[in-house]
Amino acid sequence: MAILTRRNLLKASAVAGVYGVGLGVAGRFNRAEAAPEPRLLKTQTIQANITGTEMTRDVMTYGSDGMPPVLRLRQGEPFAARLINGLAEPTTIHWHGLRLPNAMDGVPFLTQPYVYTDEIFDYAFTPPDAGTFWYHPHCNTLVQMGHGMTGVIVVDNPKDPQFDAEIVVNLRDWRLGGDGQFIAQYRPRDTAKAGTYGTVRSANWQLEPHYDAPAGGLVRLRLAITDVTRIYSFKVEGGEATVIAIDGNPVPKRFPLDVLQLGPGQRLELAIRMPDSEGAMVSIEDIHGTNPTVLTKLRAVGSSLKRNVGDLAPLAFNPVQKADLGSAEHIPVILSASAENATADSICGSLGYNFWAINKVPWSGDKPDRTAPMAELKLGKSYVFDMENLTPHSHPIHLHGMSFTVLSSTTGAVQPFVSDTYLIQPNEKVQLGFVADNLGDWLLHCHIIEHQETGMTSYLRVV
Ligand code: C2O
Ligand code: CU
Repeated sequence: MAILTRRNLLKASAVAGVYGVGLGVAGRFNRAEAAPEPRLLKTQTIQANITGTEMTRDVMTYGSDGMPPVLRLRQGEPFAARLINGLAEPTTIHWHGLRLPNAMDGVPFLTQPYVYTDEIFDYAFTPPDAGTFWYHPHCNTLVQMGHGMTGVIVVDNPKDPQFDAEIVVNLRDWRLGGDGQFIAQYRPRDTAKAGTYGTVRSANWQLEPHYDAPAGGLVRLRLAITDVTRIYSFKVEGGEATVIAIDGNPVPKRFPLDVLQLGPGQRLELAIRMPDSEGAMVSIEDIHGTNPTVLTKLRAVGSSLKRNVGDLAPLAFNPVQKADLGSAEHIPVILSASAENATADSICGSLGYNFWAINKVPWSGDKPDRTAPMAELKLGKSYVFDMENLTPHSHPIHLHGMSFTVLSSTTGAVQPFVSDTYLIQPNEKVQLGFVADNLGDWLLHCHIIEHQETGMTSYLRVV
C-alpha cells in the first residue's frame, strides 16, 4: 500500500517478538464450541433513501432497517449467525478478515453450497482477533454488494484502552441515475481499467453525516471501505488523527495521519483528539483524484475533556503467527491483464469477460468448474508471496482465512503491517509472509469486484 507522509514515519520499525503470541498452530480455528443464540441476518430487497431526495428501489440489505447492522463480536467468544435468504437469487456470507474454519468462509463451491431463496445457512465461529472487519456476499457479488449488502463487524477486546466515544463508518458508493434508481453496475471498458465508479458517495448510507463527540476527548473512529471499486486517500482536517490499526490489526507503531491510501475491503482505525472548543468540526476527507470529498464530520460538544492521545495505552496485537523466513517457501503471484474469452456460466461468478489473471490463469471464482489451486500449502509451514503487479492499475489483493505480514516492497520502506488485503500499486513488487495455519481452500482475489469477477481470482489449498 502506498503510504504518503511528510513525517517520514514509515521506516520499518523493530517489532521482533510482537507477533506470534504463541497459540498452537492448528486446532484453534476448528474447535467445537457450544453455539450461542444465532444472530438473524435476513437478506432482503427494500427501498431506501440514499440520495436525500428520492427513495431508491431494489436496495439489497441484511435486515429491514436500511444499512446492514454493525455486528459486535468479542475476541475469543463464540459467535453464531443464521442467514435467511429473502432475495430472489442465491447468496452466502463471507466474513472479511476474520480467521475462521473453512466451512464458515462463505465461498460457493469452494466452501459451501449456494443458499437459495428462502433457505437458511448457519454460521458459527470464534473470532481469534479483535479489530474492525466486515461482511458481504460472495455470490453475484458485484450486484449484491453494489446494491447494499456490505456491513461492518467490530470484534471487541474488552481490555482495549478506554476512548470517550466510538464511531463506526461504512464507506461506499452507489451507481444511481438522476432519478435515484440503480443503473448498470459496470461498464466493460471501465472493468478493463480501474473499475466502474459509483455516482453517489455515502458514509453510513448518508451524504456527509455529522456526529457529535466530546470536546477535547479521544474518539475511536473505525472506517471501513466496503465499496466495490473506489480507492480512498484519507485525510483529517481540524483535529489530531493518529493511525492505530489497519485492516483489523494494530499498526506496529502508531503514526500521525497525514494522507493514507487504502483500497476496497480495507479498514482504518484512527484515534481522533477532538478540538477543545464546543462546536469545532473535524472533517474526514478523501483527497484521492481530483475531487476532494468530505466523507463525514465530527462536532465537538461540551466542555473540553482535555485528553491526550499519548495517554492511550497501546492496543494488544492479535495472535497472528509470524512466518519463519529462513524456512519459508516462496509463491509467485503475478497480476496481469488477460485477453482470453470467458462465458457467463454460473449464477454467482463471471461477468462474461476475462480482463485479468493471476499467474496467467483468468478465473472468476464462485463457480462449479473450479481450476486447480495456485499452490498447495502444508499446514503449519511458512510461506512468502512474491507478488508483482504487471498492470497499470492498483489492486487491493485479499487473502481469505489467514493474515499476512508485509515484509518488503519496491515502493520503499514499509511498516510490517499485519493484514488480509494489500493494495499493490502499478509495477510494485511486494513480499507478504504468512504461516499456513488454517486448513482448506482459501481464495486470493482482487477486491475491486469487477476485477475479481473478470479473472483476478485464485485460491490456495492448505492440507
Ligand atoms: Cu471481502 Cu473474497 O472477499
Ligand atoms: Cu484489481
